[in-house]
Amino acid sequence: MSNYVKIFDTTLRDGEQSPGATMTSAEKLDVAHQLARLGVDVIEAGFPAASPDDLEAVRKIALEVGNPASAESEAKIPVIAGLARANKSDIDKAWEAVQGAKKPRIHTFLATSPIHMKHKLKMDPEEVVQRVSEMVAYAKSLCDDVEFSPEDAGRSEPEFLYVVLGEAIKAGATTLNIPDTVGYTTPDEFYKLIEGIIKNTPGMHDGITVSVHCHDDLGLATANTLAGIRAGARQAEVTMNGIGERAGNTSLEEVVMALKTRHPVFGLETGIDTRQISRISKLVSNYTGILVQPNKAIVGSNAFAHEAGIHQDGMLKNQATYEIMRPEDVGVNQTNLVLGKHSGRAALRNRLAEMGHSLDEVELDKAFARFKDLADRKKVITDLDLEAVIADEFYRPRDVYFLDGLQVTCGTMGMPTATVRLKGPDGKVHAHASIGSGPVDATYKAIRAIVNVPNKLMEFSVHSITAGIDALGEVTVRIQGRDSRTTMDAQTEVPYPRVYGGHGADSDIIVASAKAYINALNKLIIAQTEGTEKTKNDFGVMLG
Ligand code: KIV
Ligand code: ZN
Repeated sequence: MSNYVKIFDTTLRDGEQSPGATMTSAEKLDVAHQLARLGVDVIEAGFPAASPDDLEAVRKIALEVGNPASAESEAKIPVIAGLARANKSDIDKAWEAVQGAKKPRIHTFLATSPIHMKHKLKMDPEEVVQRVSEMVAYAKSLCDDVEFSPEDAGRSEPEFLYVVLGEAIKAGATTLNIPDTVGYTTPDEFYKLIEGIIKNTPGMHDGITVSVHCHDDLGLATANTLAGIRAGARQAEVTMNGIGERAGNTSLEEVVMALKTRHPVFGLETGIDTRQISRISKLVSNYTGILVQPNKAIVGSNAFAHEAGIHQDGMLKNQATYEIMRPEDVGVNQTNLVLGKHSGRAALRNRLAEMGHSLDEVELDKAFARFKDLADRKKVITDLDLEAVIADEFYRPRDVYFLDGLQVTCGTMGMPTATVRLKGPDGKVHAHASIGSGPVDATYKAIRAIVNVPNKLMEFSVHSITAGIDALGEVTVRIQGRDSRTTMDAQTEVPYPRVYGGHGADSDIIVASAKAYINALNKLIIAQTEGTEKTKNDFGVMLG
């Protein structure tokens, strides 16, 4: 059996599906580029049947990221997968979206647990077997690389799974993914499930990759994934920061670093360049507006912080006393003294290219202007600063409203007051002044008065990117709003508001706050006017 574990990243599908993780097409494309640089083997770029915009985003990723102008080797080109329910229409859309990639994959699924078959699908087990056989064969007639998932495998009868998976192999599937859709199993159970599948599925052979896909409802996703790998699975389905439906999916960084750090235990390899983990984690957090909890393994801000005196003492004597991984292995505390005030355009271009951002001349001019502005206020500019500027400048949603000017007065004398000037979609400048309980409240009230789109601020958080009083401030917000296609849940007729994340970075935190709010509002407005959002009903049932 191979000692290589393929990393299948589903940040852009299972991850993006979770509340508030909505990304724009430009953001998705950037994440896909970065995942390819990180070295993932498969990028599940989306669920093309969800909406025309989802299909288009997957198609773009397939064309651009799935066809790199230069790749070290054929093996380094990622497979681009599109998800499809087990019906012809979904499969056609997935194929339309991924076929432009050098290595396309159709990933189709159908539930196999008694509860899902009876209540959700309303299908007999025999009908499920028949449908799997027909739809895998149909997918295979379009695309050579077909993955099949028996949804809710964690609660399915193993003997029934052997039959279904055997039919999927017969029909041409080459990857069999075993999802613990509701995060129900324990590591021992999951180990046995994977072991049983490898041993008992008819037609199982070396050309078939068994894959694992675990959700984290009981906090066991990483443990279950590792148990599945120990039992012989050679593909792990993961997301960056563990984002995903409900409690999330198995996180990429945890599985990869467990395999690396405990190499003597597992004896397995991945193709991931772990030094990029921290940066990409930040990027995904910025784009989705989903913050990483400080104590999150590997990528939390405290993951390598040592507070207790006894720990600090040990660390000074020998780093290995309290650190099982070196922070630099995941890109934390890299000597990223990158650039300063006197660095030139070429140095900036080089550094950005090393970080995976190849900008054209116009974009570079913009980035350089932002960089110089920042360098005037901050002595040393790190990779994280640059990443924030790039996210802020290039990957925000198409500007509907744009911050044209902001003035705030606050302090202990008088009411905090903000005057905001926004350039609107009509090309005109709109100004409004508001008072508030603080400078951010006043600013947000003024923005709200101009934009005039109902929304509720659900979360606001401000933090500094690096240490130091001159650090760039970063703000993430999450707002709830309704777009034209998600006003009503079709089954219940109940209003179904969606959550939009926004991100802003600036050395002035009130400006960063304004940018983050405008960023989220722009996403909401684009979804309202163009219907770019997928709806709950588009998924039929919410996928796990
Ligand atoms: O969790 C799940 O079952 C899924 C499938 C669609 C693979 O995400
Ligand atoms: Zn899932």
